[in-house]
Amino acid sequence: MRHQLIGRRYRRLVLERVDGVPLVILPDVFNPVLLRSGAFLARNLPAPVPSRAPDSMRPRALDMGTGSGIGAIFAARLGYQVVGVDLNPEAVRCARINVLLNDLEARVEIHSGDMFAPVAGQCFDLVAFNPPFFRGLPSDRLDQAWRAPDVIERFAAGLGQVLRPGGEARIVLSTDGEWRAMLDALASFGLVVRPTAGKDYGNEVLTVYAVTSGSTRPAAVSDGRPLPAS
Ligand SMILES: C[S@@+](CC[C@H](N)C(=O)[O-])C[C@H]1O[C@@H](n2cnc3c(N)ncnc32)[C@H](O)[C@@H]1O
Repeated sequence: MRHQLIGRRYRRLVLERVDGVPLVILPDVFNPVLLRSGAFLARNLPAPVPSRAPDSMRPRALDMGTGSGIGAIFAARLGYQVVGVDLNPEAVRCARINVLLNDLEARVEIHSGDMFAPVAGQCFDLVAFNPPFFRGLPSDRLDQAWRAPDVIERFAAGLGQVLRPGGEARIVLSTDGEWRAMLDALASFGLVVRPTAGKDYGNEVLTVYAVTSGSTRPAAVSDGRPLPAS
């Protein structure tokens, strides 16, 4: 039944709503509600530390592989100034539509490009990433949401250059994907990985991990089981 429902809403123009936030999903863009991981990560982003600093000093977030823009929009609603990046031009169009729809154009900008290239030289307090869960060559634009040859390694290699001291990344992985290899890849770059939230959906377990750099603590590798939100 779930597959029938997904079939009717997959690769279609649909309007979704997550916690009251409306999101237009274009056909060639990852649906964060049907595929769960986008909504799960967006709901498990950390709020910035409260500050009396002026708006121009607002904490900054990067939504890597923004898709529909869900992570960027949720981060902006938490108080971050946000940049979203995506390789898929349809995702960039979709995210820009959703930023306008949610009246957040003063808080969110969306850039087209590959990984960290569009934000070279910039620094962020938070980096959110719902990566393609499988390794391989994508067959089309939508498949870029599912498959990439080395996206985790490139993410791990570039993260240190964009994270402010004390900043962190939040990344979501699924047991219905190459989660163990991806955790190993993050650890192999010396990153510290700590599970912060998990949920068992029956056919998959989604886990959100906090990823930090420059620590001497050994990387913690979860067995993918659900965890309470921190
Ligand atoms: C699993 S989807 C997540 C979309 C959205 N963040 C969400 O949570 O619903 C992964 C996204 O990463 C994008 N992506 C894949 N490879 C990328 C790359 N090298 N640079 C930037 N974005 C990329 C895809 O186009 C896709 O929109």
